[in-house]
Amino acid sequence: MSVVISLGGSTIFGEEEPNIAFLTSFSQLIKRFSSDGMRFGIVVGGGRPARMYANAARKLGAGEYEADMVAIRSTRQNAHLLILSLFAAGVDVHNEVLFDFEEAKTAPRRVVVMGGTIPGITTDTDAVLLAEAMRAKKLVNVSRVSALYDRPPSEEGAKKLDKIDYEGLERLAVQSDKRKAGTNFLFDIVACRLAARSNIELHFVGADVGEIAKAIEGKEHGGTVVMKNIKSLGEN
Ligand code: UTP
Repeated sequence: MSVVISLGGSTIFGEEEPNIAFLTSFSQLIKRFSSDGMRFGIVVGGGRPARMYANAARKLGAGEYEADMVAIRSTRQNAHLLILSLFAAGVDVHNEVLFDFEEAKTAPRRVVVMGGTIPGITTDTDAVLLAEAMRAKKLVNVSRVSALYDRPPSEEGAKKLDKIDYEGLERLAVQSDKRKAGTNFLFDIVACRLAARSNIELHFVGADVGEIAKAIEGKEHGGTVVMKNIKSLGEN
């Protein structure tokens, strides 16, 4: 069985420096499941360094294409660190950060790691594309936020969503597009559409290895599951 994990950049690189403790425990978890025969595609996000470098590029007069190109390098640097960590844990991992989905699909190792690929998208979209390429039916999205809410969790009355369908997810993503800059929704709209077209089950969990393990194994967890035919909040 293949599972794709979208590892938000903030889980690897929060505010100040790379999170070695998380990298180590996450790698041990991947070691356990991959030794049992599971195959993983992991896409790593850029986190704070990506935003810092993209902003610096803009201040220097670069356009959005170049800002994205610079940010992609941050995703790949985080992905490189993850490969080192997986290697140290004894995981059968492909030893370079891939940016080609065909290569990722055919790599002979149990685990492949990617960063960003082309400007104009995010690692959410890369992760769903990788899931499609690998024919994975499950994608686990790991970020600093432990679940999806029906409105920004900072707002009063925000309710955690245990399960929603693809339409519900897209509605949340569209609403968040209208919010002010810097309040990114957890999953971008292109990624939502691609997941829906291929019926890829999405699990949103926080950076907690226990929760990640439950999502991989198909056990109930404290995050949010997105799949077909689940009634969204507010619908009867
Ligand atoms: P991320 O996907 O990591 O951005 O890519 P994010 O949504 O801010 O997620 P976190 O913070 O990592 O969880 C970082 C930036 O890299 C560029 C975009 O500029 C994106 O905002 N990028 C990433 C691309 O241009 N193409 C890609 O395929 C991936």
